[in-house]
Amino acid sequence: MFPQFTEDQIAIRDAARAFALAEIDPGAAARDASGEFPREILKKLGEMGFLGMTVPEALGGGGSDFLSYILALEQIAYTDASVAVTMSVNNSVACAPILAFGTQEQKEQYLRPLASGEALGGFMLTEPDAGSDAAALKTRATRTTGGWRLNGAKAWITNGGEGRYFVIMARSDPDKGKKGISAFILDADQPGVLMGRPEDKMGLRSSKTVMVTLEEAFVPEGALLGKLGDGLKVAFGGLDGGRIGIAAQALGIAQRAMDESVSYAKSRRSFGKAIGEHQMIQTYLAEMESHLQAARLLVYRAAAMKEAGKTCTLEAATAKLFTTESAVWICDRAVQIHGGYGYSHEYLVERLYRDVRVTTIYEGTSEIQRMVIARELLK
Ligand code: CAA
Repeated sequence: MFPQFTEDQIAIRDAARAFALAEIDPGAAARDASGEFPREILKKLGEMGFLGMTVPEALGGGGSDFLSYILALEQIAYTDASVAVTMSVNNSVACAPILAFGTQEQKEQYLRPLASGEALGGFMLTEPDAGSDAAALKTRATRTTGGWRLNGAKAWITNGGEGRYFVIMARSDPDKGKKGISAFILDADQPGVLMGRPEDKMGLRSSKTVMVTLEEAFVPEGALLGKLGDGLKVAFGGLDGGRIGIAAQALGIAQRAMDESVSYAKSRRSFGKAIGEHQMIQTYLAEMESHLQAARLLVYRAAAMKEAGKTCTLEAATAKLFTTESAVWICDRAVQIHGGYGYSHEYLVERLYRDVRVTTIYEGTSEIQRMVIARELLK
């Protein structure tokens, strides 16, 4: 059977599931309603090593492999996708690029607090006028004594207002096009980094997403991440892993929608029998399960390739495209199976339907995933 999990991977998955069901699930609906950021839960996830899962233990991380991380993330998303995206961004696009491109000093300085949950991290690539076309970003990095000054605006920043260290891409040389973009590690705890009000989102209501304005924000020389001009490599390299993470998040949400639908189909009765005995509901359940199983294999395969150190751009994009599109469809069918109740805040599938929707949009839209897949095939 693929994949063959190790005992460690199974133990991590089971620990994540037990924690998620006991400590995250009970308050998820209330947090969705209030928008309360899950600080206490994140503190515990940090203590468990879940915020820097692939960061070596010597640097304060969990010391796990990438597949373990994906298995854990799926379990967290099963109970609360808002917690899952916070965890995913911290692991995939804050810790991972620093681990891959950082100097030893940078790893010591930033990974310890990020992995332990002492400080949360994030990723600042997107701008108001540069989303899918990331290379169109305008934020400027200008040299100053001892480092750089950043000016510009970053949009849709997950963990903004809550996080401290952000991997940020800015234009260090306006004349060099894509090669004029560099990556830095920004300490948001300074007056030049202005966090906007949390966006009023359709779903993921208890995760924080903000617009960030940079006004002469200072980045010291030692916080340049990777080589000058290699910012897009840092960003897109990080996004390969990030996209597998978002696929795992969608998988967890979809599995929950599946389980809720099966349970409802057994208990709800119409025309003198459980609705699960009607062929039309059976068809929905069968197709939902087929998509789910196929998606799970794609996600685990991409994760296994990444863990093996292979280039997984194609596999990550394929896993994200198929899993997130399937998950949106599965959650839509789950609402349909629940009928009018599925449209009510009182039923979990309503939240799943809202939460899952963004997974085909962030960390590269489905259209961008198709572009990446086609480019990989044709190159
Ligand atoms: N790994 C490493 N390097 C890569 C790479 C990858 N997967 N993909 C590209 N690169 C490198 C290229 O090799 C190139 O460098 P060289 O010129 O030295 O070879 C450089 O990066 C630029 O690549 P392209 O010329 O291919 O870039 P492009 O402008 O044509 O863009 C794109 C390609 C795929 C459309 C890209 O812009 C993209 O992925 N856009 C989507 C942006 C995105 O996903 N944003 C997500 C925001 S983060 C987020 O959502 C987080 C959150 O909060 C949840």
